[in-house]
Amino acid sequence: MSYLEITKDVYKEAALTPNVGLCCTTTPIWQFPGLSIPSRMQEMNYGCGSTVHPRDLVNNPKILYVGVGGGMELLQFSYFSRQKNGVIGIDVVDEMLIACQENFKEAEAQNEWFQKEFVSLKKGDALQLPVAENSIDVAAQNCLFNIFKMEELKKALQEMYRILKPQGRLVMSDPTCEQPMNDRLRNDERLRALCLSGSIPLNDYVKMLTDVGFGTIEVRAKRPYRILDPTHFPTEEMIYIESVEVCAIKDPMPEDGPCVFTGKTAIYFGEDQFFDDKKGHILLQNQPLAVCDKTAKALLDLNRKDLFLSASTFHYDGGGCC
Ligand SMILES: C[S@@+](CC[C@H](N)C(=O)[O-])C[C@H]1O[C@@H](n2cnc3c(N)ncnc32)[C@H](O)[C@@H]1O
Repeated sequence: MSYLEITKDVYKEAALTPNVGLCCTTTPIWQFPGLSIPSRMQEMNYGCGSTVHPRDLVNNPKILYVGVGGGMELLQFSYFSRQKNGVIGIDVVDEMLIACQENFKEAEAQNEWFQKEFVSLKKGDALQLPVAENSIDVAAQNCLFNIFKMEELKKALQEMYRILKPQGRLVMSDPTCEQPMNDRLRNDERLRALCLSGSIPLNDYVKMLTDVGFGTIEVRAKRPYRILDPTHFPTEEMIYIESVEVCAIKDPMPEDGPCVFTGKTAIYFGEDQFFDDKKGHILLQNQPLAVCDKTAKALLDLNRKDLFLSASTFHYDGGGCC
């Protein structure tokens, strides 16, 4: 059986019998005023981090969510969207779609603002989305793409790029890992399906996104996620896994390469009121300016004694250069 088939089996089981320990969120569940999340939906929270960021959701966006799980993030997106078919949910596992639909019935009973018609659930594969090109403003996936091997990951990202409108956003949360994993871990299809042995380093993850054409990348969060230790896993060294929240924006690719924001900030502290790098960046005296990694490097290369460049915080929250 291929790893894609094993993945479907794992999530068929997880749809029929909620598995609280599977994936397991690395953040407290987003709570909004007047939002009640049914307990079964919470038990089926198979993601890490969150893909629901209110600042992506202005101007009434058309939202697509791939890999629905118990439907919690679809409900959270609907909280902002509140219109029939405002959110499209796609999953390849029938049992997951059925469980998600059941959870929406309970969500409707618990939330007077919610109607299950706000979400349109469809069967489909992340590798071949049943969605028209240039039709979506915000696409999201949580803890699915890390399962894919390189060829499928590339295909899944190309599909997301295809369906997004220009300036559309792909919001993702996935585990990443900076250490090499041995072949036993990498080839253990069940561990991969459980989001434990497919993750890649953050820079590689970002490069996969820019290679398919996304011109702007925001690394919004990075948190500790899991440990694979030699007692419980086929590894001789302890492996540390993190989870990230990343947004990729379908901006045109700048001529000098993508703008990747990892939370770097520049501060000018010279004698003048401001510093102008003559490349579109004006730094007011002792005011922070969020900069992409490309701008950070260019400013550092100036070798000025009155410019401070912070390290990446991996917590970029908008604004700044580019
Ligand atoms: C780790 S779970 C994440 C569920 C949800 N995103 C969450 O955060 O709770 C992966 C989800 O992707 C679905 N899935 C697996 N393979 C898929 C594929 N090739 N295309 C679409 N969905 C898939 C599974 O059925 C499951 O719902």
